[in-house]
Amino acid sequence: MKIALGSDHGGFELKNEIIKHLKEKGHEIKDFGPMTNDSCDYPDYALPVAEAVANKEFEIGILVCGTGIGISISANKVPGVRAALCSDTFSAHATRQHNNANILAMGQRVVGPGLALDIVDTFINSEFEGGRHQKRLDKISKIEEKYNK
Ligand code: RB5
Repeated sequence: MKIALGSDHGGFELKNEIIKHLKEKGHEIKDFGPMTNDSCDYPDYALPVAEAVANKEFEIGILVCGTGIGISISANKVPGVRAALCSDTFSAHATRQHNNANILAMGQRVVGPGLALDIVDTFINSEFEGGRHQKRLDKISKIEEKYNK
């Protein structure tokens, strides 16, 4: 799977652990940075990952900041992005099955590395169920259209 990753300084270490994990599993990844844990601003890294996922250059994105909140809010500003902040594996598979989430966001200061990697694997290995859920995603798209005129 082609996966885009990004973080801020608050998610830097977990991002690197996830990258190592995904590479070991044979996934094709691109690290959109940052490349050091110097203080930086999460919207600067959420945006290129969100755009790359929205443009379908990557199948999914993974974003990490301290809480996962700022970086997921930022990514969700890009039309076509459905970024889901997850701290448990139930949410990770439910958001793929029901929301067709295309970006997983996590908080390095919230979840430990073991749980985080389980969440990543669960997210990657779950699929959208379509059906009644598609109608709801269409309504989300309508909201985007309304405010992007
Ligand atoms: C950075 O200190 C922190 O605010 C950021 O990583 C994130 O938690 C914001 O939502």
